[in-house]
Amino acid sequence: MGLFDVVKGEKVIRYIDLFCGIGGFRIAASQVCLEYNIKPQCVFSSDIDPDAQQVYSKYFGEKPAGDITKIPADSIPDHHLLLAGFPCQPFSICGVLKGFEDTRGTLFFEIARILEYKKPLAFVLENVKQLFGHQQGKTLKVIIDILEKLGYNVTYKILNALDFGLPQKRERIFIVGCLEPIPFEWPMPVRTIKPLKEILETTVAASYYASEQIRLNRLAKYQGKNDNEPTIWHENKAGHISAYPYSCAMRAGASYNYLLVNGERRLTEREMLRLQGFPEDFQLLTSYCANRKLVGNSVAIPCVAGVIRSLFEAVEH
Ligand SMILES: C[S@@+](CC[C@H](N)C(=O)[O-])C[C@H]1O[C@@H](n2cnc3c(N)ncnc32)[C@H](O)[C@@H]1O
Repeated sequence: MGLFDVVKGEKVIRYIDLFCGIGGFRIAASQVCLEYNIKPQCVFSSDIDPDAQQVYSKYFGEKPAGDITKIPADSIPDHHLLLAGFPCQPFSICGVLKGFEDTRGTLFFEIARILEYKKPLAFVLENVKQLFGHQQGKTLKVIIDILEKLGYNVTYKILNALDFGLPQKRERIFIVGCLEPIPFEWPMPVRTIKPLKEILETTVAASYYASEQIRLNRLAKYQGKNDNEPTIWHENKAGHISAYPYSCAMRAGASYNYLLVNGERRLTEREMLRLQGFPEDFQLLTSYCANRKLVGNSVAIPCVAGVIRSLFEAVEH
């Protein structure tokens, strides 16, 4: 199977969207397909989280299937491309360092199981950058070895959303595989970053503002200068405050005041979506807490789009 079929003179790509969350991979795939005049057909999606399923079905009109561990590979439609931003908790230095001992870590094997049975031409996987160094690189080596044994030519790289025009420092590992050897080249960094001013909303409800006590506490710890340009204040685990003209990576499980705009307020839902490159018509739920988790778990869309574009270029070569 190639990467596309030609149906009535039109190129069609069938793909599956595993661990789809709110659909960051799907939006990226649609954007790149539009550029290449290819019709995208998402033939299967899955996510276990009811909140993610709700947001996804509202935007794409399809409810993702649930727990992937319960889905037989032979019930998944044939596809050319497998996309998966698989759960990162076991590899994250911010989570518990358990790796494959943690049952969530075994979810990679669900991807391997589907690849083995369905043999799509290519895949794009994404995970936290800590996967790279986890257990002195052994975890990543296990993953790459398995993918290569399945017959894939595999390459991986850490990409940063800041290099793709978004004002968010978000480093993630991308793993790309293809059954055929292809001249795959990783996307080049984009030089211009969207200024924070274009991300931040002008009118923000009082409920987003941190308490006076928290704001004063941040100010007391902050050593930098204050100018008129907006910044996002970031508190690291040691309590050190830094302010940047971009956001540090949004994280699903971070404390409420981990990122504060100008040291004063939390990001709104729209700002969080913009920091990941979501379209303006994308809608979330009503719960701020649920939304933070969904967007923090999602992907920087221009990064994923860059990788899919590189894959299309390499296959078309
Ligand atoms: C890192 S997030 C991926 C988010 C997605 N790329 C996006 O754009 O929103 C991992 C996702 O895996 C889902 N997940 C965890 N265990 C799962 C399982 N057993 N079956 C299906 N989905 C699962 C989580 O609910 C979460 O949404």
